[in-house]
Amino acid sequence: MSAKRVHIKTYGCQMNVYDSARMADVLAPIGYQTADSPEEADLVILNTCHIREKAAEKVYSEVGRLRALKERKALDGEQMLVAIGGCVAQAQGAEMMRRAPAIDLVFGPQTYQELPTLIAKAERDLAETGRSRVVAVDLATDEKFDHLPQESAPQGSSAFLTIQEGCDKFCTFCVVPYTRGAEYSRPVGDVLAEARRLVEQGAVDITLLGQNVNAYHGDDGGSPAGLGALMRHLAAIEGLERIRYTTSHPRDVDDELIAAHRDVPEIMPFLHLPVQSGSDRILQAMNRRHTAAEYRDIVARLREARPDLALSSDFIVGFPGETDEDFEATMDLVRTVGFVMAYSFKYSPRPGTPAADHADQVPEDVKSVRLATLQAELSRQQNAFNASCLGETMPVLFERRGRHAGQIAGRSPFMQAVSVDGVDNAEAFIGRIFPVEITSILPNSLSGRIADQQTRAAAQ
Ligand code: 5AD
Ligand code: SF4
Repeated sequence: MSAKRVHIKTYGCQMNVYDSARMADVLAPIGYQTADSPEEADLVILNTCHIREKAAEKVYSEVGRLRALKERKALDGEQMLVAIGGCVAQAQGAEMMRRAPAIDLVFGPQTYQELPTLIAKAERDLAETGRSRVVAVDLATDEKFDHLPQESAPQGSSAFLTIQEGCDKFCTFCVVPYTRGAEYSRPVGDVLAEARRLVEQGAVDITLLGQNVNAYHGDDGGSPAGLGALMRHLAAIEGLERIRYTTSHPRDVDDELIAAHRDVPEIMPFLHLPVQSGSDRILQAMNRRHTAAEYRDIVARLREARPDLALSSDFIVGFPGETDEDFEATMDLVRTVGFVMAYSFKYSPRPGTPAADHADQVPEDVKSVRLATLQAELSRQQNAFNASCLGETMPVLFERRGRHAGQIAGRSPFMQAVSVDGVDNAEAFIGRIFPVEITSILPNSLSGRIADQQTRAAAQ
């Protein structure tokens, strides 16, 4: 009998990318190899994301396509299971299964370690009754990490490592506390063990993940350690040269974390620190628990500790009740703080969150105008930052071959994509860091040449 194949389609954030890799890990021991397309698969998993608008609609239309494929396969006597995982499954899974009978299994983010059992049950139900309706959306287990396999697939020179899950902040626009459950931090020992494994497998750069990553408070021999302390431990791992973390909350930036940015050179000078709005009134209505002035102060202290720190952020425009004056406060914060990258969104109501029921919703056309104004300023800042790198030499971690022959591509400390041309022996560069002199600024990336003459000569 040939091995079974699973195709996993991932939506949304890095957290989901990481979770998809873990799903593949738990399925490998029961004989599932990964497949690049649903056509080749016996099991298709949609790992869904609930943050973006129309998330459920997107899943329904994908399920519609899969149903057609499932029916074609059934005519050939082949069985294909359709499973929905991730945050949409958690929030609306049971209802989805009622509406779309092609779905055989719905499982929430806290149930991945049970996947083999859940799939076996779905396969059995389908074989015996022609219909499977397995739903597992329990939020009760906070031991998910303990059950996941120790060995994870190699992730290359830049790897992700989840250290924290869930969120207790309850921002009034956000579904995460409802879909991902309460905050939970992995013990320091577990994180270090996984980081060592990743480094042995070739990771040079590790991004620590969590919905609210700097709320980290993992057990360290009986007492809790914060993110700053955790990163000091990680920095001691031989071969681990770059540490990043995302996504953080301004309220959880403590002195220890700021000091780590000052003292630990492995912590990259690039920080995603979402602010959402520059208006105190809106920040309060969002339940962000800080003011614009406090955000500015946190940034000032971080920059004092690490003067080259580049900032990235998330913004929401058109939150219920947002006036022109509130929006102007956001623009003022953007102009004065300065961001090298940002994600900005129009507010969109999420059922079940407090802001969704707010009477004072902002009209769509007003949101669109504000978003365009904000994005124009943010891309101006991003372009200005990239332009300022011309002629600079920066360490680049090469991650892969580029699109053209003789090209290698990687990332600067500030997450900029950097490519170098005319390299004959790409393998000697991939997975390593080299100084690159930036010689041209392209629309979405930088390009340059290896700064060190000897290395440059050896590359050709
Ligand atoms: N409407 C618009 N944007 C949202 N985000 C989260 N929920 C909503 C919503 N209801 C944005 C926030 C968050 C990012 C991941 O997605 O900016 O930081
Ligand atoms: Fe959502 Fe982030 Fe707020 Fe938590 S801190 S509720 S994940 S926006």
